[in-house]
Amino acid sequence: MAKIVGSILTSHVPAIGRAIAGGLQGDPYWKPLFDGYPPVQKWLQEVKPDVVVILYNDHGLNFFLDKMPTFAVGAAPSYQNADEGWGIPTLPAFPGDQDLSWHLIEELVEKEFDVTTCQEMLVDHAYTLPMKLLWPNAGDSWPVRTVPVCINTVQHPLPSAKRCFKLGQAVGEAIRSWDSDARVLVLGTGGLSHQLDGERAGFINKEFDLAFMDSLVKDPAWATQYSVDELIEKTGTQGIELLMWVAARAALGTDASSARLLHSNYHIPISNTAAGLMLFDSQD
Ligand code: DHB
Ligand code: FE
Repeated sequence: MAKIVGSILTSHVPAIGRAIAGGLQGDPYWKPLFDGYPPVQKWLQEVKPDVVVILYNDHGLNFFLDKMPTFAVGAAPSYQNADEGWGIPTLPAFPGDQDLSWHLIEELVEKEFDVTTCQEMLVDHAYTLPMKLLWPNAGDSWPVRTVPVCINTVQHPLPSAKRCFKLGQAVGEAIRSWDSDARVLVLGTGGLSHQLDGERAGFINKEFDLAFMDSLVKDPAWATQYSVDELIEKTGTQGIELLMWVAARAALGTDASSARLLHSNYHIPISNTAAGLMLFDSQD
């Protein structure tokens, strides 16, 4: 059976793509963000996952307001990036793993998560930039296969943290029951606190972010006590992307003993966003 090697949680700000393209990693503005990633890159070189299941939220590139699935799973042979209009260069296509995709889809539907299946899927900065931060030297070919699991954070109603926690748990169980000797990484991208528009544009809540990060170590279900509206109040309209972190942590297990924190970083602001990073290895 497949093994989950760990889980990485990271923010995904489009401006990071421009910073990478411009070689600004050592610039004083960017250094505190980029300095967070080398320990994670080193761990990946040692652990060598074969596949990455990526929990992320699309921002209007693949799904738009006319058709918005709550949960969607990619089942394509590969996933193409495209220009989103942020001025960031597009990246080479990401190889898929259709065997894992269909196993995930079957297991999730069996567990009453009626996911939308996508045999074609464009992936945006929430998918591409974390991958580039984890494998900066990938060049034209990624060293891992990928499977997208997309959670709606764009059009209300959004799924609750409680539901996303259960989704993550089901994703973890599905990976562990996959008849394969593959080593699988779970990557969750989004958050932390940020609000891009409206009266609270620029809103960041460091106190809540740090409490949330701490909860993923000590009590992974902590955020499920809050409704979507409460989380938006605490973290900003787009801070709700932390749902991805809730789900990706739950894939390792539902209590503190299921994962060990190996590394974390937190820096504010990057663009309008609190940029966080956590690496957990699995205690399976
Ligand atoms: C920003 C952050 C995001 O998560 C996003 O999807 C788009 C923009 C920002 O802070 O600029
Ligand atoms: Fe985002």
